[in-house]
Amino acid sequence: MFSKKMFILATVVSSIGFGIAAPNIHADNVANATSSQVSNSAKYTDGMYQVNTTYLKQGTTNASTMGKYMSAVSDVTIKGNTAKLTISANSASSAKMITGFSINGTSGVKNGNSWTFTLPTSVLENTLNGHVDINVIFFTESQPVDVKLDMSSVN
Ligand code: HEM
Repeated sequence: MFSKKMFILATVVSSIGFGIAAPNIHADNVANATSSQVSNSAKYTDGMYQVNTTYLKQGTTNASTMGKYMSAVSDVTIKGNTAKLTISANSASSAKMITGFSINGTSGVKNGNSWTFTLPTSVLENTLNGHVDINVIFFTESQPVDVKLDMSSVN
């Protein structure tokens, strides 16, 4: 008699258990639906783009000396609301002079003659606040520079 009650109890408990588990599976689906909605609402289509890049003396519309050392085109890889911006020097000797390069306060990760910055897509159309550290034999300087990306081809 007692063990029959236990059996019924166990059956009831396990049905409740499944009852609880079932909504969890639903919850996962809801989470997936939400994350795809987030990327649908992203500003740009995911992908890799090449964007014209200009360097201006900070706070001005005048060309910066930095433009002489850099590639005029940068790579932007968009994934959702995050962008990886890769900026390149125009030669190995130009890259060698640049000992530090940050944008909006975050240091770029150097790879060969390029630096990669992870930025929110929301800032890409703004003037980016660059900063470079230069070292050429015994000459050093640490300079601010405005970086402008031409985002007109990215949609
Ligand atoms: C032999 C190498 C270099 C020398 C002698 C040099 C010298 C100077 C001097 C004297 C200034 C003061 C402002 C002016 O006169 O225009 C300056 C500014 C500046 N330099 Fe250099 N520089 C050298 C290389 C570089 C490199 C490789 C970069 C970056 C890739 C760079 C980026 C800047 C920036 C951003 C400024 C601030 C003014 C502006 O944006 O034009 N410099 N440099």
